[in-house]
Amino acid sequence: MASIDHWHPLLLSRSLKNGPVAVRLAGREIVLFRAQSGKVGALEDYCPHRRMRLSLGKVVGERLRCLYHGWTFSCQGEGESPATPKLYACAGRFDVQESHGAVWVKSADSKAQMPKFDIDGFYNICNLHHRVKAPLELVVDNFCEIEHTPTTHAFFGYPLERMHEVEVEFETTDTSVRVINRGPRKDFGTVLRWMLGIGRDYHFMDDWTTYFSPVHSVYDHWWQHPVTGRENMVRWRLYIFFTPADENETVLTTFAFTKSRYPGPAGGVRLFRWLMRRKLDHEIRLDVRILEGLADKNPNIDGMKLSRFDKVLGLNRERIERIYRGNA
Ligand code: FES
Ligand SMILES: [Fe+2]
Repeated sequence: MASIDHWHPLLLSRSLKNGPVAVRLAGREIVLFRAQSGKVGALEDYCPHRRMRLSLGKVVGERLRCLYHGWTFSCQGEGESPATPKLYACAGRFDVQESHGAVWVKSADSKAQMPKFDIDGFYNICNLHHRVKAPLELVVDNFCEIEHTPTTHAFFGYPLERMHEVEVEFETTDTSVRVINRGPRKDFGTVLRWMLGIGRDYHFMDDWTTYFSPVHSVYDHWWQHPVTGRENMVRWRLYIFFTPADENETVLTTFAFTKSRYPGPAGGVRLFRWLMRRKLDHEIRLDVRILEGLADKNPNIDGMKLSRFDKVLGLNRERIERIYRGNA
């Protein structure tokens, strides 16, 4: 399989309204459009006539009309020319699906499965979209180790002066890499601590698994007492998809959920949704800023001096190459 053969969340559904939108996947230019019926089409972003960008066109009923000479294309890519009705023209098409508030795309002939969301009892806080000017591997590296959390993050992760106490464990299968961290939590505001039901001596727990069709990690974040095992009231589950726009840019699509043990609808989380969304968006922007500051954006790990938290880098790279890119 090649990278475009996997299902990727290329756009949040709320960003696809009346007009077509240009997106990129592993260097391929794709146009997404929503027909009047609500159905979504994903085509190569160039017109088979004289290669105008279809994303500059307009949706007319069930079809996308090219800006240049007005040829139109269905969601399946079947073209019609108003000036030459008998002409047969086809725009390249992709498979497309809409779910979890995003538009997902893969190449038309692949058999890849849609990634599964295990969110029973969880409440969707928000879906977010961020662009990072860095290659896929380096972005995944950042999201798969917690040694950067003391300096980069305000909320998730561990304090620098106690980082040496943090434990890390790895569990792998042929197709996944799991990382578990536990250690003393960061000190953040009392309001937030109280809202999330975090006891004073609780530790921060981080347990995530990365999968490679497409490349994404599923994170569980919670706080718990190191001796009694008592957990805080609200647990986070994040699905973060790492989609290469091209070799130098990666798009992050985050689906954020929480499970709350407080009473009431969605465990009272609905009221604080805006705050949690803001916190999370801020935390991800901090990662983006760090990544864009890298002096060398070569994804090769040879020559890097790696730490005890970095074993995951090599494990992920092997699977990205084999499963995601299809290189033996
Ligand atoms: S280039 Fe699209 S109709 Fe001519
Ligand atoms: Fe981070």
